[in-house]
Amino acid sequence: MTSTMTHRHLADEIRELAQEKNAVILAHNYERPEVQDVADVVGDSLGLSRAAAETEADVIVFCGVHFMAETAAILSPEKIVLLPDLGAGCSLADSITADQLRAWKAEHPGAVVVSYVNTTAAVKAESDYCCTSGNSVEIVNAIPEDREILFCPDQFLGAHVQRVTGRRNMHIWMGECHVHAAISPDSLSNVRRRHPKAELLVHPECGCTTGLLEASSSGELDVKGLQVLSTEGMMRRPRYSGASEFIVATEVGILYRLRKAHPEKTFFPADERASCRFMKVTTLPKVWSALATMEPRITVPPEIADRARLAIERMLEIGGSPIAPCAPAASAE
Ligand code: 13P
Ligand code: SF4
Repeated sequence: MTSTMTHRHLADEIRELAQEKNAVILAHNYERPEVQDVADVVGDSLGLSRAAAETEADVIVFCGVHFMAETAAILSPEKIVLLPDLGAGCSLADSITADQLRAWKAEHPGAVVVSYVNTTAAVKAESDYCCTSGNSVEIVNAIPEDREILFCPDQFLGAHVQRVTGRRNMHIWMGECHVHAAISPDSLSNVRRRHPKAELLVHPECGCTTGLLEASSSGELDVKGLQVLSTEGMMRRPRYSGASEFIVATEVGILYRLRKAHPEKTFFPADERASCRFMKVTTLPKVWSALATMEPRITVPPEIADRARLAIERMLEIGGSPIAPCAPAASAE
């Protein structure tokens, strides 16, 4: 049997099981193609949080990483949340602990804490607002200007938000995602040289964003089609862009969905080594096994969940549009 046939067979069984157990399958844009294909909803962190909050299913199978499944469990405490492989961690979420955040808050009494959704439930419980790459600018703009902000844990997203909002009283934690931080300006420049007409779609977690945007605003670099977007923003962008080629600076798993959704356009990875091993641990056999055994489950202690939920709900109330483009696109509509 070929692997495609095996996938198809397993996918059919997973869909049947999901129906039997009244389960919804959510998958992040970075998941393996066959896992994306079996899911009911594929999206970015924000879209998946919304789907988890709104679903009427009894069971949520989260094909993503641990903090995402925790977010689903916080938003739907009455539901069973399954993470097919507990090894699906996140280097960015690991870059700040609740103890570290408490100590930081003690140094800045009265500051408003904005935590990226890529954090543990315990860190969210210490936060005033959550944000995702899709709404971080809106969240920071919603905080009164005279209030100091502690933004954690991603330094590149923080720098991007500070640049767009012009916010001066914002302190940024120096965390990073090892995958996005490793997309180097050099590898991006090489791809840009090979595809000079391509529009550039950049995730704000990327290490290359800061240099690019600074060079672009100083006029040192001509980056006409630069768009800084969440993964879902990247999914939508080709529909509105006149460009036929795109360079994609984020985790490479998104290329599958981009190519499927926009077969008439061409997508090049900024760095083909940008693969998140945590997103790839989830496989179809593990999804099947999670549904068959109702394990492994993700639960969050109620005293943490109740505080973390406030920060997530404040975020969901404020908004969820993708980050606004930082520079006019070369061939925008
Ligand atoms: P998005 O919120 O843009 O999907 O990115 C999240 C992320 O980096 C997950 O690893
Ligand atoms: Fe975490 Fe980075 Fe992987 Fe996203 S790509 S899950 S931020 S390690």
